[in-house]
Amino acid sequence: MARLDVRCKVDLPVSVMFDCDRKSGITETKFTSLSLGGGFIEAVPPSAENKIIGLKYDLPKYGEFEVMGEIKRSDEKGIATQFHNLNRDAKLKLWDYIRENISDDLSCPYCGKMNTQKLRKCDRCGWSLTFYSQGYIVEHEKESFINRLAMKSESFSIEDIYKILNFVDVEVLKIGKRLDINEEFVGSSQKMLNVFSMIRKIAPTDIPVLITGESGTGKELTAMAIHERSPRRNKPFVTINCAAIPENLLEAELFGHEKGSFTGAHKQKIGKFEYADGGTIFLDEIGELSTNMQAKILRFLEDKVVEKLGSNGGRKVDVRLIAATNNDLNSAIAKGMFRKDLFYRLDVFKINLPPVRERGEDKLILARYFLNKFSKEMNLKKTFSPEAIDAINNYDWPGNVREIINKVRRAVVMSRESSIMPADLDLELTTMKMEEVTSLKEVRNSIEKQKLIEAMKHCNNNISKVARVLGISRPSVYSLRRKYNI
Ligand SMILES: Nc1ncnc2c1ncn2[C@@H]1O[C@H](COP(=O)(O)OP(=O)(O)OP(=O)(O)O)[C@@H](O)[C@H]1O
Ligand SMILES: [Mg+2]
Repeated sequence: MARLDVRCKVDLPVSVMFDCDRKSGITETKFTSLSLGGGFIEAVPPSAENKIIGLKYDLPKYGEFEVMGEIKRSDEKGIATQFHNLNRDAKLKLWDYIRENISDDLSCPYCGKMNTQKLRKCDRCGWSLTFYSQGYIVEHEKESFINRLAMKSESFSIEDIYKILNFVDVEVLKIGKRLDINEEFVGSSQKMLNVFSMIRKIAPTDIPVLITGESGTGKELTAMAIHERSPRRNKPFVTINCAAIPENLLEAELFGHEKGSFTGAHKQKIGKFEYADGGTIFLDEIGELSTNMQAKILRFLEDKVVEKLGSNGGRKVDVRLIAATNNDLNSAIAKGMFRKDLFYRLDVFKINLPPVRERGEDKLILARYFLNKFSKEMNLKKTFSPEAIDAINNYDWPGNVREIINKVRRAVVMSRESSIMPADLDLELTTMKMEEVTSLKEVRNSIEKQKLIEAMKHCNNNISKVARVLGISRPSVYSLRRKYNI
């Protein structure tokens, strides 16, 4: 198999420090071969456990270099070591040295095939052999990086792949880095990383988005994050809470009205759809729309023409639509309460925000984020006690992020000490989960039943005796027998 790096035979003196901590036991020896990734050293390691070694070598023309190495394997001829902290400059100088050492070589330094014709590309392994061409090493490093990743990728899980792609998007390519999602949008659970990645992908497009999730999971925050990362970010982001505006006012609010179009319409008013021209409309709680308004919104979405109440003509606007709901729209459709055709218009790209109870360690990450935020705002120094951390982790947070915000804000204000306790968070009595309460009841029932069976056996089914043994009344014994069918 061809190597990923050029390796050449050398005779380069090197000082090896086998015990880096104690800086003792320096062995003067030599590299017999070298590549950009490591080298083979003529030496016998003193101890099998010691894997990390220090290396000092002098490169002709460039001077002295000190690097860390890891012993990868050893045999009677010496040890193969991998370099650990070779910076870019040291690497380029080492490359110069290696390049000079392979210039007289008649074989391919990747796969060893003889190359007497001085081919520019090895006809066995395919690596380019034009070592003196400009940018050779940079191109080579890119190509070998892809190969290394491909070799390692066999052991990647699908979660690893998402994490890597997310890292490449955010940290390397800085996609969506303008207003970094993680700065305002806290989360590192896999489910939230997927949400962030969806936001980044959909934001630059004009595709409508439907955001679903329980109350307080961050639907509005998601809608804003999409808008802020879209080319429409300098235009309005207009939120319409479909549940908050009474039906009779909603139409005028959305479409606007002409002067005198109804009693009280003293002057012309521009509706929210028109105001949002060039930007984004966020229809929040879309599941609460009346069927009448659903029909009007559907018509608008089809032609994007705003017709003010009382006007004869309309005006075309350019808006991107984002909708959100915490209702199950499918069941609303089944009950005839939500229009299927409107649903299909909205449900082009769906982002589902998981409830906080499904976000694993994000519970604590969110709580700590808000603790820091509120402590700073109030100029206080607060931390969570270990009991509070347990309580935060064990609680289900039915009100999701909004509940975390409220409880942490309360705790920062209420706690007398710098260390916040569960009671400050109002979590003292609520830390037990519903399943645990049920299972406790089950445990009690099963013990009760078991004890009754034992007592009945012991007392030969004599109810008075059973009552005495168990310390309960006779009617209670009858009632327990009925309860457990004994
Ligand atoms: N992952 C998060 N990181 C930081 N803050 C968050 C996060 N998710 C939500 N928030 C904050 O929590 C609060 C509630 O979020 P938001 O209003 O977006 O939720 P929602 O799903 O629209 O709730 P509702 O259904 O009740 O309207 C907001 O203050 C928001 O900024
Ligand atoms: Mg909301």
